[in-house]
Amino acid sequence: MEDIEEILFTEDQIAARVEEIGREISRDYAGRTPLLISVLKGAVYFLTDLSRTIEIPIAFDFMAITSYGSAALQSGVVRLIKDLDMEITGRDVLLVEDIIDTGLTAGYLLRLLQARSPASLHICTLLDRPRRRILEALPIAYRGFEIPDLFVVGYGLDYQERYRQLPFIGVLKEAVLQESRLLRD
Ligand code: IMP
Ligand code: MG
Repeated sequence: MEDIEEILFTEDQIAARVEEIGREISRDYAGRTPLLISVLKGAVYFLTDLSRTIEIPIAFDFMAITSYGSAALQSGVVRLIKDLDMEITGRDVLLVEDIIDTGLTAGYLLRLLQARSPASLHICTLLDRPRRRILEALPIAYRGFEIPDLFVVGYGLDYQERYRQLPFIGVLKEAVLQESRLLRD
């Protein structure tokens, strides 16, 4: 892919790590039926692959959000476009995320979910970029990979809605980022 500077994680590396996490979840939640909740659209690839590696009964559900622009991003205030279909009261909930960056989005979602009194509530994130973290106290129970301070795409992660379908996770070329900045300004 000509727009990619460097591949951070190959398809095989991702699959192997996802399987390890699935095994941990199967073990940790044995005897229960956790509800995996994911945010559209970035985490969908991770959630569907992960779900196939889990050997206990699970259910999953989706939410969709949008942020209120850059000022609101700083406060982590997002608008809910699609709420869950299911009730989560008394359920063991696992919030499945593509990437935790500042942590503000996850923090907002956790507050929203916590208010509905689940039996338990934890985060499972594929990528963790702690460098830019603003909200420190997040209940991250499972993390696929920790990454350096680089913008990544692929395996569900997008840049302006593109590159989600790449089977690997890679770093976008600086020229691609600059090009679209020029187009926008
Ligand atoms: P946070 O609220 O700063 O933690 O932002 C998390 C959200 O920002 C993720 O769910 C992604 O949708 C998006 N995001 C953050 N970093 C990246 C990246 O490197 N590539 C693609 N999307 C990203
Ligand atoms: Mg996203």
